[in-house]
Amino acid sequence: MSERIWLSTPTTHTEEQEFIKEAFDTNWVAPLGKNVNEFENEIAQYTGCGYAAAMTAGTHALHMAVKLAGVSRGDVVICSDLTFAATVNPVTYENGIQVFVDSERDTWNMDPRALEIALEKYKDRVKAVILVHLYGTPSKLDEIMALCEKYNVPLIEDAAESLGATYKGRQTGSLGKYSAISFNGNKIITSSGGGMFLSRDEEAVKKVRFFSTQARDAAPHYQHSEIGYNYRMSNIVAGVGRGQLIHLDEHIALKKKIYNTYKREFEGLPVKMNPYLDYTEPNFWLSCFTIDEDAMERVTPEKIRLRLEEENIESRPIWKPMHMQPVYAARDFITAGDLVGEDLFRRGLCLPSDIKMTEDEQLRVIEIIKSLF
Ligand SMILES: Cc1ncc(COP(=O)(O)O)c(C=O)c1O
Repeated sequence: MSERIWLSTPTTHTEEQEFIKEAFDTNWVAPLGKNVNEFENEIAQYTGCGYAAAMTAGTHALHMAVKLAGVSRGDVVICSDLTFAATVNPVTYENGIQVFVDSERDTWNMDPRALEIALEKYKDRVKAVILVHLYGTPSKLDEIMALCEKYNVPLIEDAAESLGATYKGRQTGSLGKYSAISFNGNKIITSSGGGMFLSRDEEAVKKVRFFSTQARDAAPHYQHSEIGYNYRMSNIVAGVGRGQLIHLDEHIALKKKIYNTYKREFEGLPVKMNPYLDYTEPNFWLSCFTIDEDAMERVTPEKIRLRLEEENIESRPIWKPMHMQPVYAARDFITAGDLVGEDLFRRGLCLPSDIKMTEDEQLRVIEIIKSLF
């Protein structure tokens, strides 16, 4: 059988090893070190976010954002519903309560109309809004930021999947009060695992550095007035990230080419690619599509997934909405009408988007899918 075609795996280059080698040569593999400092500066500069703190995971960056927003027992945090659980789990770490908000059809991200209903309903208890830029597609940020301002609630951007994507020319992750990105192995670039907390507020980033190195008070002995965490990235991991960041724009261009090839080749088929607003530029991390309702009787996403699997090709269902997750069954869910997230989950599929996939391999994927319709 031919080699497996993946959804999205790490694509490494040579510079990663040079940064790691320098860390070894200077005996500075840990703690922290030059690669961590430079990686933070480089990401801050690339995104224009102001300041950045490197973490062991994107999830930990989100946890720090929730903590800095001041979430505590019983506080409500309004969250994107259609996302990976890591977007919303940190609310539980701080004993907050998620309220899930449905998606809209133009970007698959948080619906501003549903957000407004949620903000009005919970205005006395809401501590933060967390939105995700799903699959690298920017959300309707103007509308959402205006609502956050109106209700005086901080916005947290989960830009884990969207590094390099822009909204009206500005980078996702640079517009919210706090933001998180992920360098997990399947992301647009990887540090082999890790994340970054971003903010325009330098004091906030200093606090994150404090909390993520065990919250040590300024004393020669070990003294703690607050609960801390061990969340800081290592100098080796940051070296991998620095080497990858050099290739971010190249990765985005390759992802965009994959997306456009699917879009072109699927013309005439009863499917729609994951959409984006014309004044945004996604990073095209994952190409996805939905099957038109009237074709669902013949072909389902699961049928395509199983057929591709037979050919050693990886694809994956769209994220299962959080309000459908057993662990969050008791949480409130707010939609502006027609249950968009549930519908995308039912009719959608994530397609192979690995930038090492050759054009011929992608055409093979496309032919297999076409043959099912
Ligand atoms: C939307 C989203 N949020 C958060 C995360 C968590 O990032 P990490 O795996 O680096 O903890 C991921 C990916 O893993 C993600 O896709």
